Amino acid sequence: MILYINACVRRESRTRRLAETLLSRLEGQVQTVDLNTAELPILTEATIDERTVAAKAKELTNPLLRYAAQFAAADTIVIAAPFWDLSFPAVLKRYLESVCVTGVTFRYSSEGIPIGMCRAKTLYYVTTSGGPLLKDYGYDYVEGLCSGMLGIPECVCFSAEKLDIWGVDVEAIMAEAQQRILDSFK
Ligand SMILES: Cc1cc2nc3c(=O)[nH]c(=O)nc-3n(C[C@H](O)[C@H](O)[C@H](O)COP(=O)(O)O)c2cc1C
Repeated sequence: MILYINACVRRESRTRRLAETLLSRLEGQVQTVDLNTAELPILTEATIDERTVAAKAKELTNPLLRYAAQFAAADTIVIAAPFWDLSFPAVLKRYLESVCVTGVTFRYSSEGIPIGMCRAKTLYYVTTSGGPLLKDYGYDYVEGLCSGMLGIPECVCFSAEKLDIWGVDVEAIMAEAQQRILDSFK
């Protein structure tokens, strides 16, 4: 199963266009989580406690564990997120808080080292930016979660940059970015 996490906000999202090019090259059934409409739990003291109890009891159907269980079971993960304020939209952070659950997507060794429990071998991160992507704290953070916590060995970033600079040929930049994605599957 391919898990497609769509954090794109705008109807004419360029990031979503790139993600769709990527998805056209991946084989398998796609499950989409649209973060514009997903009912993401809010982590309060009460929901954190309830989630911890549910995770210990392996109640994976509990709504508080739903996104973590789905993420852990995915074979491949695709995140589409526009570059906002050197990172990604806040709703993606909220989603990732739902996903990082001890006992579902990772656990600790007896020495306290996080051991990933996710099935996916690759996470694709797709983004577009108005200016140059000099430092993408959003991608770096996601890559850090994958390698340091969730046990997903490979993160691949596809991007189109400088789309909001006056006078640039947006469609030419998009076509090049789409071609880079297609070429990587040759
Ligand atoms: C709230 C907001 C914050 C943004 N922050 C940045 C930024 O820090 N750096 C940048 O280069 N572009 C920034 N942009 C421009 C977007 O990254 C760019 O327009 C991108 O292509 C939007 O993706 P979309 O077409 O998928 O919506 C921002 C845009 C918005 C709406």
